[in-house]
Amino acid sequence: MEQYYKLDKWHIIEHGFNPQKNEISESVFSIGNGYMGQRANFEEQYSGSSLQGSYLAGVYYPDKTRVGWWKNGYPSYFAKVLNSTNWIGIDIKINDCILDIAKGTLKDFKRVLNMKDGYLERSFTLVLENNNEIHVNSKRFISMTRGEIGAIHYTITPINFSGEITISPYLDGNVKNTDANYGETFWDEISKKAEPFEGYVMLKTKKLDFNICTYMTYELCKNGEIITPNVELLEKEKFISNTAKISCNKNDKIEIFKYVANTSSRYYEKDELVSITRKLSIKAKNDGFVNLLEEQSNAWKDKWEESDIVIEDDIAAQQGIRFNIFQLNQTYTGKDERLNIGPKGFTGEKYGGSTYWDTEAYCIPFFLSTAEPNVSKNLLLYRYKQLNKAIGNAEKLGFSNGAALYPMVTMNGEECHNEWEITFEEIHRNAAIAYAIYNYVNYTGDKTYIQEYGLEVLIAISRFWAQRVNFSKQKNKYVILGVTGPNEYENNINNNWYTNRMASWTLEYTIKAINYLKESNPDRLMDIMKKVNFKDDEISKWHDIIDNMYYPVCDKLGIFLQQEGYLDKEQILVKDLDKSNLPLNQNWSWDRILRSCFIKQADVLQGLYFLEDEYDINTIKNNFDFYEPRTVHESSLSPCIHSILASKIGNHDKAYEMYLRTSRLDIDNYNNDTCDGCHITSMAGTWMSIVHGFGGLRVRNNKLILNPFIPEHWKSYSFKIRFRGALLKISITNKYVNISNELNKDVIIEVYSKDYKLAGNSNIIIQR
Ligand code: BGC
Repeated sequence: MEQYYKLDKWHIIEHGFNPQKNEISESVFSIGNGYMGQRANFEEQYSGSSLQGSYLAGVYYPDKTRVGWWKNGYPSYFAKVLNSTNWIGIDIKINDCILDIAKGTLKDFKRVLNMKDGYLERSFTLVLENNNEIHVNSKRFISMTRGEIGAIHYTITPINFSGEITISPYLDGNVKNTDANYGETFWDEISKKAEPFEGYVMLKTKKLDFNICTYMTYELCKNGEIITPNVELLEKEKFISNTAKISCNKNDKIEIFKYVANTSSRYYEKDELVSITRKLSIKAKNDGFVNLLEEQSNAWKDKWEESDIVIEDDIAAQQGIRFNIFQLNQTYTGKDERLNIGPKGFTGEKYGGSTYWDTEAYCIPFFLSTAEPNVSKNLLLYRYKQLNKAIGNAEKLGFSNGAALYPMVTMNGEECHNEWEITFEEIHRNAAIAYAIYNYVNYTGDKTYIQEYGLEVLIAISRFWAQRVNFSKQKNKYVILGVTGPNEYENNINNNWYTNRMASWTLEYTIKAINYLKESNPDRLMDIMKKVNFKDDEISKWHDIIDNMYYPVCDKLGIFLQQEGYLDKEQILVKDLDKSNLPLNQNWSWDRILRSCFIKQADVLQGLYFLEDEYDINTIKNNFDFYEPRTVHESSLSPCIHSILASKIGNHDKAYEMYLRTSRLDIDNYNNDTCDGCHITSMAGTWMSIVHGFGGLRVRNNKLILNPFIPEHWKSYSFKIRFRGALLKISITNKYVNISNELNKDVIIEVYSKDYKLAGNSNIIIQR
């Protein structure tokens, strides 16, 4: 771990270029807008190591499964979001020499992610191998207001020569996913055309027939005046370019403005794609880079208005949280309920851009508080619409009667991960989907969701649990055997406390939801029960399971056991390991990891986080004190949960330490894996560690509750949340909690166990 980027409140800054860190920076400086996104690759050629990546949300490929030994029930494909047409490309030649910063002498390299206004900037001076010296500046963004548009402003200034600069903007569909299972390419060309100052490439996926069109238009300027030199056109397989030669004198300013539209058949008719994409690109060009950038900056202003967290006197913490909020808002906007949030968003290929339990367990709370309710509702609807597929998944594994097992990894509702210990065994994901329904209803108060959609999902998941348990005569209890809990450093274990508890909790919540509808809307309940062919004895079975579920515990230590037999393992603490062993997953054999007591991520603690109201503070503390020292946090999803629980039990130093670790996980490359992409879903956890952890925000019985503390060396911090029509800004200092209600909606808030009524457009100051 090292602090490679400069500390700054609103920017991520890389000063000086380290080629070994380029792929990390490509992840960190990624840009996106919910519809598309890309790694921070260079526009010009680069012969050093780089992972070229541009992705369109929801455009995926069912890549044939690759496993060592086939097991029945494995999905036949692994879906991955496709690396698609490289639209940023601009080849540059300075006299006879290709511009490539890996060649020549590089000076003053600077890459900046401007999070306030939403763009990426880069500048450098380079003495090329022909001794020509140039200065380059490039600005690029993906529009938050025009889903399909990306724009680039690229400037070259000759410093010590007069001569010729050759500029070739291009579109290149010859791209590959680095994670392709058999090294195959996934795109076929449909059509392409290069014309002066514009051109397009249209591709289709080899399977599933997604069509995408990328259209570029561009303008060239010399010393601020538009120029229209003759251009040479080139068309090759899946590739088009324009080439212009511009003669220039020392200190001339040569600029290219490139405007690109990316569309897909997910949103438009195939035969209209080219004309629509062209129109979008031309409109962007006519509106111009400066105006587009202003639009972008305003859009980000609005985003920050509703989701910023301000921390005074701790730049590292401030930069960390803004980076997380920025990346989350770049990844998901909630405008399309067919989309979801891949663990790496658009910043890399690991995890294939698919949906994991991360969305429900981590991301929903962020979007519930920082966006209108329909944004998180869309995330729930995504699963609702995939219910039949989840029932199909369960059937493939031998379950029946409408039992649903939601996939661990999916693009379209079908399971597409193929390691048995995850696909077959990490069944706890089902509970997170039920929990998200609870979370949404609890936070928004929108109980109609239960009758319209939620109950069907809850019943199907409950049916799964009722079939997945078995009654152990020996224990005289229900058990759940052969699972992987959230801690993936244990496989095929019996009675994982988290899984057993969350299974039982789902049954309890489903029964509550049924009872609620019995009272509030019996007709609707009848319809649902008919639709799902519900039998009354299902509920008695569920009660029996709830009453007789087996939970492994150690009374002596006052803890829940992660699973049966956990204490048989040699008990070593992470602090006693030589640092050279970490991260374990990069230094130890899998076998050694499985035999060790080390925990990848919150497991029992994840359950205590979800169900905290059921446990007293001593129970939470005992478990935290036992498990935290054994946890290596090698899942990005881990430190945030530890931070929130540490806040809850009053261990403020630990809460802060874990906060820093989660918020700067990618910028400081804690787990030595940022090159694969940023950990987008855990970024929501970072937000939670401030708002739920330090701020102590909860919603209970329709009331907003705050119990804030302030980390020792912070002067103040503030966050914004939406709650049932109100937009609240909550600022905390050592002395007071200041809450302003920025919309015209009254709200009752409990702060430090006392209720306050806060009228719309007013504020209160509460002494701490
Ligand atoms: C974690 C899972 C998580 C996945 C995607 C894994 O490392 O163990 O819990 O769903 O990453 O973020």
